[in-house]
Amino acid sequence: MVSRIIPVDPFDLVIFGGTGDLARRKILPALYRRFRAGQMDEQSRIIGAARTELDARGYREMVGEAIGEFGGGGAEDARGLQEFLDLIDYVTLDARGETGWPELRALIREGRVSAYYFSVAPRFFGDLAQQLHKYGMADGNCRIVVEKPFGRDLESAKLLNAALARHFDESQIYRIDHYLGKETVQNLMAVRFGNMLFEPLWNSQFVDHIQITVAESEGVAGRGEYYDRAGAMRDMVQNHLMQLLCLIAMEPPAKFDPDSVRDEKLKVIRALDPVRPGNVVRGQYEATETRPSYRKQVENRDSATESFIALKVLISNWRWAGTPFYLRTGKRLRDRASEIAVVFKDAPHSIFGEEAGRHRNILTIKLQPNEGIELGVTIKEPGPGGMRLVDVPLDMSFAEALGPEADAVPDAYERLIMDVIRGNQTLFMRGDEVEAAWAWTDPIIAGFEDDAPPHPYATGSSGPDEALALIHRDGRRWREIKA
Ligand code: NDP
Ligand code: BG6
Repeated sequence: MVSRIIPVDPFDLVIFGGTGDLARRKILPALYRRFRAGQMDEQSRIIGAARTELDARGYREMVGEAIGEFGGGGAEDARGLQEFLDLIDYVTLDARGETGWPELRALIREGRVSAYYFSVAPRFFGDLAQQLHKYGMADGNCRIVVEKPFGRDLESAKLLNAALARHFDESQIYRIDHYLGKETVQNLMAVRFGNMLFEPLWNSQFVDHIQITVAESEGVAGRGEYYDRAGAMRDMVQNHLMQLLCLIAMEPPAKFDPDSVRDEKLKVIRALDPVRPGNVVRGQYEATETRPSYRKQVENRDSATESFIALKVLISNWRWAGTPFYLRTGKRLRDRASEIAVVFKDAPHSIFGEEAGRHRNILTIKLQPNEGIELGVTIKEPGPGGMRLVDVPLDMSFAEALGPEADAVPDAYERLIMDVIRGNQTLFMRGDEVEAAWAWTDPIIAGFEDDAPPHPYATGSSGPDEALALIHRDGRRWREIKA
């Protein structure tokens, strides 16, 4: 298999919040890896902008250290790193004042793509949009990239959309959900719409239910303040799990272009039924001998925020009426393991009799780690003893099937930033999509207020027992959380 890197035209990328955690951990290492892969050339420029007083040299040092820590660069990369650092500049700038804006304006070159990455707290998004406009940088060639969280409810998301729309057209706004940049998530679309095999079966007539699990083994250390105001519903379900649900449930778009794909996703969100309180289970992790409890980590001894949530979701449309989607996500669970399992119905009639047992096909899309696709099929157990059936996986691990190509897969931020430069919005959320997601989420969160506090669960478990009951009462069971 040949790797095809398509170079992008020279661009200017400004990272507001260029000294922050996200810039150092994700954005700058991603750019470095794309540079090393030959996708961007020496004409492009990356400009960090934040209040910290630094000159270009000081910022380059910071970037070099960040890449050393998070980018995987070793001594043999030194030359590539120095060339990359030569592309970097810095402006001391205040989003809410005039400091630095004329200097930034002077650095932006006319006639090429300029992208402005808002890697700052969302309360600055409106100010940045306003200042870019005021200083003549909000022209037709520019794009803005905004990070999550995009609001904390429908009202705040609408205000944010309106603040951005004052100066930018929707075609210039790139709302990041980094799950959409993950290779296996894109593979979901390839599997569904590139194969004849699945589409005829992809509906409530053949699919019993679908499980979406995003399990993490780490807690909320270091992000307690943010997380305790968000919780798993806002932090993960409203965005990442919702996007996975959309890609699984949507109708085939007519084309793989931004609006065709996003129109279909939006239809799914609008078809979601309101979730009854009885179909939601929230949890909060407890301490172990060596690790603090959730409440201790967020320094809020009465916190009623969930670090785990499970929901049963129904979609009212022709394709999915009657097929439940079970969603769950949480921190400090048994493993870091994310997957989507499409569980097909039993064969309508077993010709092998009762002893052969109950068998069903399950298509599992493993998102992380060990990305791959597995199809469980039923075969005859080898050997004598009559017709005994057994389920075995037809397993395709991407690492095995694609060899070194699989290792060369860019991470989500690499893919998404290059898409911004290319002007491809397919993997970014549209404003109406985000609002629809909040419109569905808000009543569920409002229901928490009347609800009992989250159920405690043990670190390293699969979440609270009540989450098991949520699916058991329908005669189904969660799949094991296993990396
Ligand atoms: P940090 O707090 O680490 O960084 C914030 C950045 O904003 C710093 O560079 C800071 O620099 C700058 N800043 C603060 N005030 C101003 C101002 N008035 N004018 C200009 N710059 C300012 O945050 P993160 O990097 O963690 O997060 C950035 C955004 O990304 C947030 O919206 C967050 O929700 C989102 N995000 C972060 C993730 C992560 O893993 N970190 C994951 C997903 C989303 P200085 O103090 O020098 O001005
Ligand atoms: C972020 C959430 O958006 O996604 C984090 O804010 C979460 O709480 C992270 O840990 C998970 O991302 P990934 O790529 O590690 O699955």
